[in-house]
Amino acid sequence: MFVRSLFIVLQFVYFFQAKELPEFFQNYRCSLTKDFRNCFIEKGNKVIPVIAKGDPELHIPKMIPLELKHLQLVETPTLNLHLSDIKIYGLDEMKIRDVRLFKNYGGFSAMLEGKNLTIEGQYSVNGKILVLPIKGNGPFSLYLKNGLYKAIVTAEAYEKNGKKYFRSTGDKLEYSVENITFDLDNLFDGNKQLGDEMNRFLNENWDLLLTDFGPGIAKIVSSMHRKMFDAFTSEYAIYEIFLE
Ligand SMILES: *[C@@H]1O[C@H](CO)[C@@H](O)[C@H](O)[C@H]1NC(C)=O
Ligand SMILES: *[C@@H]1O[C@H](CO)[C@@H](O)[C@H](O)[C@H]1NC(C)=O
Repeated sequence: MFVRSLFIVLQFVYFFQAKELPEFFQNYRCSLTKDFRNCFIEKGNKVIPVIAKGDPELHIPKMIPLELKHLQLVETPTLNLHLSDIKIYGLDEMKIRDVRLFKNYGGFSAMLEGKNLTIEGQYSVNGKILVLPIKGNGPFSLYLKNGLYKAIVTAEAYEKNGKKYFRSTGDKLEYSVENITFDLDNLFDGNKQLGDEMNRFLNENWDLLLTDFGPGIAKIVSSMHRKMFDAFTSEYAIYEIFLE
C-alpha cells in the first residue's frame, strides 16, 4: 500500500516537472499557426549569435568557435585521415534563409547560409587522395566560401506524462559551396615543394574532393544536429517550444 501511494506521489510530482524554457529563450518563440516561416527567420537570425555562445541548459555547445577534440574522417585501406583540436569559426555568423515545418509534427528543414566557415586544427594523413600519394601531419585550415546548408530532421510526436514531445526519426544535411581552400602544413615531412604542389592539387580539385568526402562529413554534422535536437526536445514539451 505504501509503495503504491509513493509511486502515485512520484508520478504526480513528475507530471508537473515539464521543464520551462529559460526566460531569454521564451522571447524567441514563434507560433506554429500564424506566419511561422517569417517569424522563425526573423527571430532565429537574432537568436543565432546569442545561442552560439553556448547554453548547457539548452544542450547547445559553445560555437564561437565550435571545438571538437577528434574526428576520424576517413579510415579505409587506401586512406587514413584524422583531425584533432578542431576549431570551426563562422557558425555564429550564419543566417537562416528558409525554414519549413512538416505536417503533423513531422519535423523541419532549415536552410542556412554561411559566407565564411573556416576550420582549423591538426591533421594526420596517410594514403592516397584522388590517386596521388599523400602523407603528413601538422596544422591545417579549410575555408568554405559562400555555402548553403540545408539541415533536415524528421520527427514524430509522442506522449510522456500527458504531454506531447518530439522525437527524431531521421536526419540529413544537403549542401552546396562556391569554393573550398585547403592549407595543409608540413606535408611529406616538411618538404616544401611537394607540400605546395599537393596543396595546389587539392585546391584545384576541391569539387572532386567534396564529392568524395562531402557525404561522410555531412553525415557526421547531421547526426550532431539530430543529437542536439533530441537532447533539447526530450526535455521540453512541444507546447513549451512554440507559442500557442
Ligand atoms: C574567414 O574567417 C576567418 C576566421 O574568422 C578569418 O581569419 C578569415 O580572414 C575570413 N576570410 C574571409 C575571406 O573573409
Ligand atoms: C577557389 O579559390 C582558389 C584559391 O584557393 C582560386 O584560385 C580559385 O580560382 C577559386 N575557384 C573558384 C571556382 O572560385
